[in-house]
Amino acid sequence: MAVIVIVGAQWGDEGKGKIVDVLTEKADGVARYQGGHNAGHTVVIKNEKFVLHIIPSGILHKGKTCIIGNGVVVDPAFLIEEIDELKKRGIEVGENLFLSKNAHLIMPYHTAIEREQERLKGSKKIGTTGRGIGPAYVDKIARTGLRVGDLLYPEVFREKLKINLSSVNNLLKALYNAGGFDLENVYKEYMGYADRLSGHIADTDVIINKMIDENKNMVLEGAQGTLLDVDHGTYPYVTSSSASAGGACTGLGVGPTKITKVIGVVKAYTTRVGEGPFPTEIKDSLGEKIREKGGEYGATTGRPRRCGWLDMVALKYSIRVNGFTGLVITKLDILDGLEKIRMCTSYKCDGILHEEFPKELSVLERCEPVYEEVAGWKENTSGIKNFEKLPGAAWEYIRKIESMLNTKIQIISSGQKRDELIMLHEPF
Ligand code: IMP
Repeated sequence: MAVIVIVGAQWGDEGKGKIVDVLTEKADGVARYQGGHNAGHTVVIKNEKFVLHIIPSGILHKGKTCIIGNGVVVDPAFLIEEIDELKKRGIEVGENLFLSKNAHLIMPYHTAIEREQERLKGSKKIGTTGRGIGPAYVDKIARTGLRVGDLLYPEVFREKLKINLSSVNNLLKALYNAGGFDLENVYKEYMGYADRLSGHIADTDVIINKMIDENKNMVLEGAQGTLLDVDHGTYPYVTSSSASAGGACTGLGVGPTKITKVIGVVKAYTTRVGEGPFPTEIKDSLGEKIREKGGEYGATTGRPRRCGWLDMVALKYSIRVNGFTGLVITKLDILDGLEKIRMCTSYKCDGILHEEFPKELSVLERCEPVYEEVAGWKENTSGIKNFEKLPGAAWEYIRKIESMLNTKIQIISSGQKRDELIMLHEPF
């Protein structure tokens, strides 16, 4: 039995979707623990591309239990759209999908508030995905949120909505001079969603813990990445949830003693979408080249991702706050053909060398990366399935990452398709 948490080790978009999909083959269930439809997990099966935003990517395997946990924020309209789209493409979505009663609902006013907040921030905006994620989590922590379970009790739902709308409509008008929302319209809209989703709504903590007690193999799937975590990321340029490993416990109701492994997914270089500090960003044409070759455009918003070299300072920090037991390296092939590859080993700021990831944004923003250069390789590594076929320099790069981070690399992903990977140490 294994309960494996999969976490993005950087700023998200490391390729977790494919890794979760691959591991699900040997798992009985897969559960998503935080975030919402701000995430975009791309999986390619036999040349067919699936982009999942809220449903765990394990759904693409037949007969696996898929759970959307209490730590997730759910836009029901979007979830229904995703279910319908998957069904249209022949994927089974029925009794295999469970939605936690305690997950919070994204309401139309969350998106409206976020839009106005970002507009007012001007150049200091966070560059959110605009999906109401932050304001939904604000309501959760402020104890004013509506939860998925409320959909099953129309009178309770209506009463809570009425109270929320009376303050939200005032806020929208007074602060932003923006229009408000009509109680009856929102109520009717959400009761329609309740009809569609009621069959999926469940006590997911009971389901997942029962599976663990029965010695089933489970994958606990994080969205975004450690450096976007609300506590451990580059605050305030973060998302509003606990993307790092600890979030799996609170976001699913699984005790820390039940977790057997924590695997960090690391892209062979670094990307970031949205605003915020990024010390190893490559601002010249090479950054552009990596973006084009790696298809580095947001799976959710289509925004171009900023690209940079591998940042060992940030990765060491990520390993510490997650307690990774192993790593997966993705998109190594995107670096094919480079003469030299840079790895950032420390930062310099005001003449001071930083080997630890600075917590202060004002310091991190001014950090200059200190690089070590390693040899690149000319050969094409895309689709390689056997480590012996990797060019020597690529293998050296992998080994160097492993020794600098003092953490075992378990899988090297060499392409988008399921079977395009080198399995070094089977996680299950
Ligand atoms: P939010 O999650 O929409 O509130 O956006 C906050 C920050 O997290 C922004 O910089 C987004 O670009 C970033 N972000 C949110 N979800 C993802 C993701 O799945 N991949 C990469 N960045 C993300």
